[in-house]
Amino acid sequence: MTDIQNLIKKMSLEEKAALCTGAGPWTTTPVEHLGIPEMTVADGPHGVRRVEDINDFVSASIPATCFPSAASMASTWDVDLINKIGEAIAEECIAQEVDVILGPGVNMKRTPLCGRNFEYYSEDPYLAGEIAVGFIKGVQSKGVGTSLKHFAANNQEYQRSTINSAVDERALREIYLPAFEAAVKEAKPWTVMCAYNKLNGTYAAENHRLLTEILKEEWGYEGFVVSDWGAVHDRVEALEAGLDLEMPGPRERRVEAVIKAVRSGELDEAVLDESVRRILEIVFKAAVTKKGGSFDAAKNHALARRAAGEGMVLLKNNGILPLKTQKNIAIIGRAAQEAYYQGGGSSHINPTQLDNPFEELQKLAGDAELSYAEGYPMDESFDQALIDQAVENASTAEVALLYVSLPATKESEGYDRPDLDFSAHQVALIKAVTAIQPNTVVVLNSGAPVVMSEWIEGAAAVLQAWMMGQAGGGAIADVLFGKVNPSGKLAETFPFKLEDTPAYVNYPGENGTVRYGEGIFIGYRYYNAKEVPTLFPFGYGMSFTSFDYQNPKVSADNFRDVDGLTVSVEVTNTGEIAGKEIVQVYVHDHESKLARPPKELKAFAKVDLQPGETKTVTVSLDFRAFAYYHPSYQQWITENGEFDILIGASSADIRCTETVTLQSTLELPSILNRDSTLREWTEDPSGMNVLAPLYQQIHEQMLSNFSENDSAQIGMDPMGFLLDTPLLNLLHFFGDGLPSSPEEMVDDLLAKVHSTD
Ligand code: BGC
Repeated sequence: MTDIQNLIKKMSLEEKAALCTGAGPWTTTPVEHLGIPEMTVADGPHGVRRVEDINDFVSASIPATCFPSAASMASTWDVDLINKIGEAIAEECIAQEVDVILGPGVNMKRTPLCGRNFEYYSEDPYLAGEIAVGFIKGVQSKGVGTSLKHFAANNQEYQRSTINSAVDERALREIYLPAFEAAVKEAKPWTVMCAYNKLNGTYAAENHRLLTEILKEEWGYEGFVVSDWGAVHDRVEALEAGLDLEMPGPRERRVEAVIKAVRSGELDEAVLDESVRRILEIVFKAAVTKKGGSFDAAKNHALARRAAGEGMVLLKNNGILPLKTQKNIAIIGRAAQEAYYQGGGSSHINPTQLDNPFEELQKLAGDAELSYAEGYPMDESFDQALIDQAVENASTAEVALLYVSLPATKESEGYDRPDLDFSAHQVALIKAVTAIQPNTVVVLNSGAPVVMSEWIEGAAAVLQAWMMGQAGGGAIADVLFGKVNPSGKLAETFPFKLEDTPAYVNYPGENGTVRYGEGIFIGYRYYNAKEVPTLFPFGYGMSFTSFDYQNPKVSADNFRDVDGLTVSVEVTNTGEIAGKEIVQVYVHDHESKLARPPKELKAFAKVDLQPGETKTVTVSLDFRAFAYYHPSYQQWITENGEFDILIGASSADIRCTETVTLQSTLELPSILNRDSTLREWTEDPSGMNVLAPLYQQIHEQMLSNFSENDSAQIGMDPMGFLLDTPLLNLLHFFGDGLPSSPEEMVDDLLAKVHSTD
């Protein structure tokens, strides 16, 4: 094993500074005479984008398997499968001499407009964290590194390089950080990539609190932090904040700035040494894995097909699917000939092969006759003749399969979608075809939700196929013909309309800042709390079979937070064919000091069941499943009381509820302060203890000052008003009759309260 400390001692200041900035767009700086190799990174996260010319940003990339996009992967809710994809991507990295793959991305889907949502997993931090853990563990089990990105609060592409995400502490801790936290703690990614944007006024790259205090100190992160490409503004400040490696390189001026800062004493060399240490640990770890060779493209294509099938979500089905006996099938829509399988930007893969959806249908269609009509033009223009042709084909067929995709560049890194719509032409096409052919199946290719209200009524079935990767054409055919029983469920809510979405009034921000005004209420947390109806709720997805939930059990009715809880339920496949069910466990807190969402996902399991088969699904809920982040205590807290354990098939389809009582083991200090109201004093046990005699006086005085008649005069209950007034203000009211100044009295009471902490 390399003695890193010794190596650092041997390195010159120039060499250390150079190591902390890339040598090229995708490589780190080697130091040959000390045997420090260069390390190569390549984009992910849906496959390897290893450019042919390693010194070029966007030269053609070497063919690699294009797996389904992250949105599709998350819809599988299958951590083991995602783990296998991670392993396969690592094998391709090894063959292409790549040390670290730049993914996964775990930013929350705050708004469905974010151009990069296809690259992210979910609107739910728990689900995103679990999927990321599966992916990272898969890749790293083969000796290849990952880069968990984009840390943090990069939830829109609009002004991504400069926008200030203004996020309150609670939302940050409960929504925007937990997927990163879970991935860091459970899967230990070799690298974490900081975001472009500012978080609460400071660029992520220069954000000491984020990179050092939270990531490295609080979570115990041991790898290194890499900048997003070009995200650093001040190299010295970034190093001090905990940004170890700046990418891309070369950037001579940056290296010089670091050398100068150390020489002038502005930068402590120990800070530089720490970043060098972190980078070297990973560089040498990566070097252990022997690179080269080839990978099994056919095997990985098959895995991509399986994953695409598992991620597809059957949104609607009146029984037309799976297709059985139809002999005359009209295939309509360009997406049937030109697979819409990945999004735009750095994740774009050069696939090893690409399924043609039409041809794949043909392979499974037996002796059925398939016609094809283009349906809609490539751009957003209107061409009635295309609709007429589609209608003609549909009218003479037994069933129409309508493949619709968003325009190729609408979903991309670098900008957001302006709307959630298909083109006017596509909507007119769907309406015309469904009007003439009641047996119309709409196959949707998009990386994120589209609105459907105008046409969904007329469709016999709707399949959300996502950006499905290179083998998606075959996977669609598998599902339509019932070779694969759909089992994907939505990892994000599909709204009726854009105006319903949680961030609508705060997006995209103005004057350089986007305020996360909805706080912790994103995704289903918002729709549930506001009772806003949705087109399809979080966690929703249909199957060709049906499942029954029976016999829910919890390990204890009363339990201590630190002991957690085990929850089980028996799930039976009550239909005729094998299928998979995703059992979701949500937690609902009956009462809490701070507002909580009506329900939050805290566990899930995917179970494979033969017809008639029953399996017991068991999941565990730990301390965090019941806790929330309290900004005043600056920690996750639990409170005594009742919780509902909601076991369901989706966030809107709860099948069993168990009520349990939690005993908190926390002994929290009092958070009373000079601004605390009378109510806060009375609700704080030690506060009420020391306040009791004075409280009695206040109460009596109020009663004598205000007769019932007085209350009626001003139409107010004086005690109600008093309770929400700070104790200090109240004492000022009593003025001269007090033994000492109100400030002294409150400080004295506070001292007594805090002496018992
Ligand atoms: C993206 C990253 C990507 C990097 C390298 C950036 O623009 O935000 O996700 O890994 O480029 O291509």
